[in-house]
Amino acid sequence: MFFYLARQSSLLLPPTLAVVCESPIQRANAIALATELALPLATEQSPASATHHLALTLERLELRELGVGAPGPIYVDFTAGAADHRRRWGGGRQQPLARAVGLKGSSGLTVIDLTAGLGQDAFVLACLGCSLRLVERSPVIAALLRDGLRRASLNPDIGAMVTQRMSLQVADGRKYLLSLNASEWPEVIYLDPMYPERRKTALASKEMRLLRALAGDDLDAPELLATALTHARRRVVVKRPRRAPALSGPMPDARIIAPNTRFDLYLPHPKIACKRTPTTSTAMD
Ligand SMILES: C[S@@+](CC[C@H](N)C(=O)[O-])C[C@H]1O[C@@H](n2cnc3c(N)ncnc32)[C@H](O)[C@@H]1O
Repeated sequence: MFFYLARQSSLLLPPTLAVVCESPIQRANAIALATELALPLATEQSPASATHHLALTLERLELRELGVGAPGPIYVDFTAGAADHRRRWGGGRQQPLARAVGLKGSSGLTVIDLTAGLGQDAFVLACLGCSLRLVERSPVIAALLRDGLRRASLNPDIGAMVTQRMSLQVADGRKYLLSLNASEWPEVIYLDPMYPERRKTALASKEMRLLRALAGDDLDAPELLATALTHARRRVVVKRPRRAPALSGPMPDARIIAPNTRFDLYLPHPKIACKRTPTTSTAMD
């Protein structure tokens, strides 16, 4: 119980990070990463005081929470574990995420994921044939994602697909959209802003808790949605907890409901909007 409370309160404070490397051969890369992220480099000789380490191991980049009872490290791995399982067995184009972006009957779509996080949703869509531009504004989360994409690009099964279909921008999503020419607007814009804080005892996953500690609550999500609505050619999709209210702004045109998640669908263009179907239907699959 003590560890649980200590861990909860440690995540209420903003995390402090330092870069470390496991082996001297990675020192130059660690210095470059620390400089890029404006973080201290912790070494045995000069250990920086930090709540988390961004650790360059011989295999990958991982984020480690420090202290007794800390959960295991966080890293992005598209080649194994949950991402790989979902690629093989996730339900293909029948799964709610694919239906939400409107993949049915289309060979692939251009999608901008404006809240890329650890890239899990984007990877599912890329595996189903979409071309993804991933936008993430937290430089630390983006560094973890970039490392996951780099390793995935070397994998014999998915490397070519990841290289061709997934690219990452470290930027604020709204500013990124405003910088695009109309010819660069995607068919679909996808948003998965941080969920409202859970009040009940069930904990969010360690990844989600850490993402929230690093990125904060995405309180500007309604502004992001408003900008997305003027930059998507076909639709905007917002992922929400199943019972959460929609983001402030226009009401969604339709919804796709999954066991724990809901996808709110918005049709940005008047030409498409005249075919609107009532909210709660799933007629836009
Ligand atoms: C809930 S996570 C997304 C998880 C992601 N869908 C996945 O599958 O891993 C939300 C992420 O969106 C990022 N984010 C929120 N608002 C953003 C914005 N305006 N521009 C860029 N990134 C944003 C946060 O930093 C955070 O990493």
